[in-house]
Amino acid sequence: MQPQKPLFPQLGGLLHGGDYNPDQWLDRPDILEKDIALMKKAGINSASVGIFAWSALEPQEGVYTFEWMDRVIDRLYENGIYTVLATPSGARPVWMDEKYPEVRRVRPDGLRNIHGQRHNHCMSSPIYRQKVRQMNTLLAKRYGSHPGVILWHLSNEYGGACYCDLCRKKFQEWLRKKYHDDIGALNHAWWTAFWSHTYTSFDQIDPPMEHGEHSVLGMLLDWRRFTTENTAEFMRAEIEPLRQYSKLPVTTNFMWMYGGLDYHTLAKDLDIISWDAYPRWHNNEETVYDTATQTAFNHSLMRSFKRGQPFMLMESTPSQVNWMPFNKLKRPGIHALACLQAVACGSDTVQYFQFRMGRGSFEQFHGAVVNHTGRDDTRTFREVSEVGQLLRTLSPVAGSSPATKKAVIYDWDNRWAIEDMAGAAKNDKKYHEVCYEHFDALRRLGEDPDVISSTESFDGYDLICAPMLYLLKPGVAQRLKDFVAQGGTLVTTWLTGYVNETTLAFLGGFPGDGLMELTGVEAEELDTLYPGQTNGVQVGDERYETAQFCELLSLRSPETRVLGSYTQDFYQGQPAITIHPYGKGKSVHIATRVEKQCLIDLYSGLLSMSPSPKEPVLLPNGVEVHRRVNADTQYTFYLNFSEEEVTLPALPRDCRDMLTGERLSAGSRETLGAYGYLVVASV
Ligand code: GLA
Ligand code: ZN
Repeated sequence: MQPQKPLFPQLGGLLHGGDYNPDQWLDRPDILEKDIALMKKAGINSASVGIFAWSALEPQEGVYTFEWMDRVIDRLYENGIYTVLATPSGARPVWMDEKYPEVRRVRPDGLRNIHGQRHNHCMSSPIYRQKVRQMNTLLAKRYGSHPGVILWHLSNEYGGACYCDLCRKKFQEWLRKKYHDDIGALNHAWWTAFWSHTYTSFDQIDPPMEHGEHSVLGMLLDWRRFTTENTAEFMRAEIEPLRQYSKLPVTTNFMWMYGGLDYHTLAKDLDIISWDAYPRWHNNEETVYDTATQTAFNHSLMRSFKRGQPFMLMESTPSQVNWMPFNKLKRPGIHALACLQAVACGSDTVQYFQFRMGRGSFEQFHGAVVNHTGRDDTRTFREVSEVGQLLRTLSPVAGSSPATKKAVIYDWDNRWAIEDMAGAAKNDKKYHEVCYEHFDALRRLGEDPDVISSTESFDGYDLICAPMLYLLKPGVAQRLKDFVAQGGTLVTTWLTGYVNETTLAFLGGFPGDGLMELTGVEAEELDTLYPGQTNGVQVGDERYETAQFCELLSLRSPETRVLGSYTQDFYQGQPAITIHPYGKGKSVHIATRVEKQCLIDLYSGLLSMSPSPKEPVLLPNGVEVHRRVNADTQYTFYLNFSEEEVTLPALPRDCRDMLTGERLSAGSRETLGAYGYLVVASV
C-alpha cells in the first residue's frame, strides 16, 4: 500500500471550509473581521474566495481592484485559514456583455441571451477566452505564490452548450477532423440515408437545435462529445496561465450526475477532483438511506476519476438549499453523518455553500454556516462546529485511499445513447436507478464499489458490474473478455451491447462486438412492461418480482447455466438470469429488472465464489460501511442512515474507536443510535 499523500500538507489533516463571498460585504469591514472569528470558532480552516467576483476585481474594463482580495487572503492566512482561490469566469460583469455581445451564449432556439444569470458564456468565443486568460494571469501572478493560497478553483460548475455561429463552425471542424474529412464516413456513422438526411458537405451540419435536427442519434451523441471537448478546451485555456505562473494544483467543481458534460474527459486535465453534493435528504419519496445510496454513488464516481487519490467535497449545504421545490432542513444529526460519509468515501474535505448568507438576491435564504443574525449559537453553527471538531479528530485519515475490488461501470456516452434511444420505454429507461440498485446490492453486503467508465483500467478489481451497457466503445468488449478470462466476475443486464460508439446497432445479435461469446447468451427480443406491471423470476426455491424490462434470451453456449427463469407471460420458463464460465472467470447476465433482494442474493453468491472468497455479511437496514487505508492503518466507517438503533456485525479485528480512543476487540458487536456513526482504526 502506498504511503498516504494528503491533498494539502499545509493543513496537517482534513480541510473544513466553503464558499466565502467577502466581495458582497466590502462596505462592512466589521462583518469581514467577525467572519474570521466565526470561522475559527467553527473549526473552519479554509475559505473558497472569488468564485463570482469579476465585477469586484475589474469593475471597468482594464481597471483592476485587487486590494480587497489582498486583504482578505492575508487576514485569513494570519488566522490559520487557507484560501481556495477561484477564477471568476463563472459569471461576467455587465460591461463585458455590453461591449462584446459574442461572449453571451446562444440558446437552442437560436436566440442570443441578454445579460444576466451566470454560467452562460460561449465557450468558443475568442474574446471571452482572452478576457479569462488576462484575469487568470493577473490572479496567478499576484497570488500564485502566496503561502495562504492552496488551490485554484476554476470557474464554477462548467456546463451547458452554446448554439452560436462560432460554436456551429467549431462543431463542423470537430466533425471534419473526427471523420477524417470524409463526409461519407460521417453519413455512414450517423446513418443519414434514413429520411433522406444525407449531407454532402461538413458545412451543412447544424447543431441539434430546437427547430432543427433531432432524429439522427449519432449526431446528438457527437454534439454532446463536442460540447464536452469544447468545454475541456476552454478549461485548459483557463489553466494555462495558472500553471505558467504558479505551482498550485487545479480543480473545478463537478455536479451531481450532471448530464451535459462527460466528466471523464474534464477530469484528465485536473489535479484534484471536487464536486458539489446536494442530496435531497428527507424527501417524501424515499428513505434517508436511499438518498445516502445515491450520494455514495456520486462520491464513488468522483473518487474513481483519480483512483488512489482523495477528492474534495467542494460544496454542500450546512442546513438546507433554496432552489428545490420544497427546501427541507437537515434533521439534527444528518449533517455530521453526511459529512462523515463524504470523508468515508475518500474526500479529504468538507466544504459548504455558503459561509455567510448574503442579504439579497437569489441565494439570500440558502443555508449557510452563519445566518442573517451573525450569531454563533444557532443550531446550524453548532452542528458545523461539531463537524469541525470531528474532522480534527479524524486528521490521520487525510491522504488515505478507499480500498475496494468491486466496481460499477457508469459511462456518459452510454447514458446519452440510452436517453436518446427511441425504443423500449421512451423516456423512462431508468439507467441511473439501475446503476444505484446494483451498487447498493453490493453495499448491503459490506462492499463499497468504485464507479468507473468502460474505458478505464479494470486492474485491481475482481468483480465488475456493467448495468445496461448499451453502447460499446471500441475495445471495451475485448477488455471485458480479458478481465473475465483472467478470473474476474462480470455482471451484465438487459440492453447490453446493442450499439457501437456512433449508435449503429451491432449486426449479428446482442450483446454485440463479440460479447456474446463471453455472456453465452443472445438477447433476441426486449419486452417492455407498463408501470405497475410485473413478472417473476424463479431462482431455485425463491421467486422474485421483476418489472420494467424483460429480455428474451437464447443460450449460445453449451456451458451457459440458467440460474433463474421467468414465471409468467408467453416467455414463462425461459431464461432470465444466466451464468457462463469464461477462461478463469464467469459472466452473469440478468435479463430483467429484478427486485433488490434478488440482486443481494445473487451478489452474495458471487462474492462467496470470487477469487478472494469471503462469507458475505448482510448489513442491518440503513447501515453502510466504508474503508480507507494508508501505509499501515485501515480506517473503517460505520454509518447508520436509519432512524432505528442498529447492532453492527462483529468487528473483524482489534481496533481503536477514533472518536473516543477506546480499544475495541475483534468479535465485539457495537450498536449505533439513529444517524449514529463509528470510525475505527486498525491497531
Ligand atoms: C451550486 C453553485 C453555488 C450555489 C449552490 C447553491 O452548487 O456552485 O454557487 O449556487 O449551488 O446550492
Ligand atoms: Zn457559442
